[in-house]
Amino acid sequence: MGHNEVLLSVNGVKATYNHAITALHGVTFTVARGEIVALLGANGAGKTTTLKAVSNLLPAERGLVTEGNILFQGLDVATAKPADLVRSGLVQVLEGRHCFRSLTVEENLVTGGLGRSGGRAEIAAALEKVYAHFPRLKEKRHALSGLTSGGEQQMTAIGRALMSRPRLLVLDEPSMGLAPIVVQDIFRTLRRLNREEGLSILVAEQNSTVALKYADRATILENGAAVLSGDAAELRNRDDVKAFYLGQSPRPAAPNTPILPAIAV
Ligand SMILES: Nc1ncnc2c1ncn2[C@@H]1O[C@H](COP(=O)(O)OP(=O)(O)OP(=O)(O)O)[C@@H](O)[C@H]1O
Ligand SMILES: [Mg+2]
Repeated sequence: MGHNEVLLSVNGVKATYNHAITALHGVTFTVARGEIVALLGANGAGKTTTLKAVSNLLPAERGLVTEGNILFQGLDVATAKPADLVRSGLVQVLEGRHCFRSLTVEENLVTGGLGRSGGRAEIAAALEKVYAHFPRLKEKRHALSGLTSGGEQQMTAIGRALMSRPRLLVLDEPSMGLAPIVVQDIFRTLRRLNREEGLSILVAEQNSTVALKYADRATILENGAAVLSGDAAELRNRDDVKAFYLGQSPRPAAPNTPILPAIAV
C-alpha cells in the first residue's frame, strides 16, 4: 500500500482557549492515506486539543487556532463545519466513548449512518460490516448501551463512526479505562480495518505501549508542542522514548510494569 498521498496535514498549529490559555505551541505532523498515526503525550500535553482542531470543534469550546493551519484532502478544516468534515470522510470518536445510553447498541450504530445518503438497504449492509468487525456488538445489538460494558461502549462509539464511512478515523484515547485485553482487542480490530479496508487512522493515546505496537508512525506531544516524530518501530526502540513513555526506566523494570504516561515536567 502506498503511503505517499497526504490525507491530513497539521502545520505549525498554535491554539488557545478563552483567548488566554495557550494549549498548543506549534504542532506539525501528517497522516498519509493508509497509515495509522499515533499522537502520544501525557495528561494535558494537547492531544485532545489537537484532535478537536482537526475536526474544527475548538470554536464550540471557546478555543481558537491562532497560527498555522490544518488541511484534510487539501481542504482548510477551519473553513468547514464539523458536520461537513464528517460528510467528507473525517470522522472522530471523542474522548470518553460517547453513546446514547438509553438507545440500544444497534440504534446507536444507526445514528452514525443517518448523515449519509442511501436507503435502508445501505444502512443494513453497513451494520453487517460493523458487526463483522465487532461480533460482540452483534450479540449485544438489542441491549441498551448504558447497560453494556465500557469496552462494548467504546466499540459502539467506533462502530457508529464507521457507519458514516470515514476515510480518516480519528480516535481520542480509545484505551481509556479499559482492561488491557479489551484494549488489545480494539486495537487489533482497528488494525484490521486499516489493513483490509484501507482506513486511515489518527489515534491519540496516553498508552504509548499499545499505540506504538499498532501504529505505523507516531508524534509525541509535550506541553502543547510536537517534540518527536518518527516510525513507530524506531520510537519503540529509542532509549529516551522507552524511559519516558514506555515505563521502562533505566532501573530494571519488572515485566508488565504499569505504563508511566507522564514525563517529569
Ligand atoms: N475547554 C478548555 N478550556 C480551557 N483550557 C482547556 C480546555 N481544554 C483543555 N484545556 C487545557 O489545554 C491543555 C491541553 O489539554 P488537552 O485536553 O488537549 O490535553 P490531553 O493531551 O488531551 O490530556 P489528557 O491525556 O488528560 O486527555 C491543558 O493545559 C488543558 O488544561
Ligand atoms: Mg485528552
